[in-house]
Amino acid sequence: SVEFALRRRGAASSNRRLFSSDSAPERKVAILGAAGGIGQPLALLMKLNPLVSDLALYDIAGTPGVAADVGHINTRAQVAGYAGEEQLGKALEGSDVVIIPAGVPRKPGMTRDDLFNINAGIVKSLCTAIAKYCPSAVVNMISNPVNSTVPIASEVFKRAGTYDEKKLFGVTTLDVVRAKTFYAGKAKVSVADVNVPVVGGHAGITILPLFSQATPASNDLSTEDIKALTKRTQDGGTEVVEAKAGKGSATLSMAYAGAIFADACLKGLNGVPDIVECSFVQSSITELPFFASKVRLGKNGVEEVLGLGPLSDYEKEGLENLKPELKASIEKGIRFAKDN
Ligand code: NAI
Repeated sequence: SVEFALRRRGAASSNRRLFSSDSAPERKVAILGAAGGIGQPLALLMKLNPLVSDLALYDIAGTPGVAADVGHINTRAQVAGYAGEEQLGKALEGSDVVIIPAGVPRKPGMTRDDLFNINAGIVKSLCTAIAKYCPSAVVNMISNPVNSTVPIASEVFKRAGTYDEKKLFGVTTLDVVRAKTFYAGKAKVSVADVNVPVVGGHAGITILPLFSQATPASNDLSTEDIKALTKRTQDGGTEVVEAKAGKGSATLSMAYAGAIFADACLKGLNGVPDIVECSFVQSSITELPFFASKVRLGKNGVEEVLGLGPLSDYEKEGLENLKPELKASIEKGIRFAKDN
């Protein structure tokens, strides 16, 4: 057929209609904060994802360069850069998934909550624009403190009348990525086969890896080993912040984690069955209004928030210990959105 001949000559990649007619559906992904430490490698990884047909790279400055650079890669996604607030609407229009790594990262000695004052305002203004220009997009919130920025987003969307709890996700995938890596090293199993759910929130002790549910199971790990793995997972971000010594926080591993999570969202939207990832979402599995746990992703975003499963005594204790801090962070976000 003509189509086949065109594709053989490589013309299909320049003809989106042809490409999408017999391949994955068209999906636009926008990255807000795309010129940053996370944004740039995340833009690269999303450009490599064959599920993406359009990639919009937005930042307050610097995105034309990132877009020109990434745009030369010979993969499906059409790339466009948008710089400055007056171009935010265009960047967002028609987006299926919006990934937000905009805002300041930590420096040594800072907690994620220390970022609140700056990042809360950034997230609020970006979410106000999302409500206006792509109200039904799936939102992947990376900007810290995630425990507060997700509640802020929910309040902004509620006020705009666009809130869909199934489409708002706090990205906690990096906690899972770290737990898998650290567990595989300690249990001496192949990291590619490892799965570890991480629940709760995304800061310090609110990060609760469930090593009792890790697969493949290991009988060789002592209680002390599990405690050390838990602490290393909780402090993984700080480990990177200290190693970077003032030059920011995790960017490369975060870009990887963000790309994994966005890919799962896209697969869910495309109707691929049994896509399950941990994420910080509106939840009723505990008494807290938002909580990270395994989530089944589908055509409308969250298809099902899965329960915690059986916990060890150590994990039960960790769960009770994290609740006050997580509750306070959620309430802080809600209060900010209501007061501003
Ligand atoms: P960065 O400073 O390198 O990049 C942030 C980018 O956001 C900059 O390019 C900046 O121009 C942009 N930006 C600032 N205000 C903006 C606005 N109003 N609209 C659009 N873009 C805006 O910081 P980095 O390292 O990329 O980190 C970004 C965020 O991600 C931080 O809040 C950090 O704490 C968070 N983070 C989250 C992780 C997670 O697991 N969820 C892991 C690591 C970092």
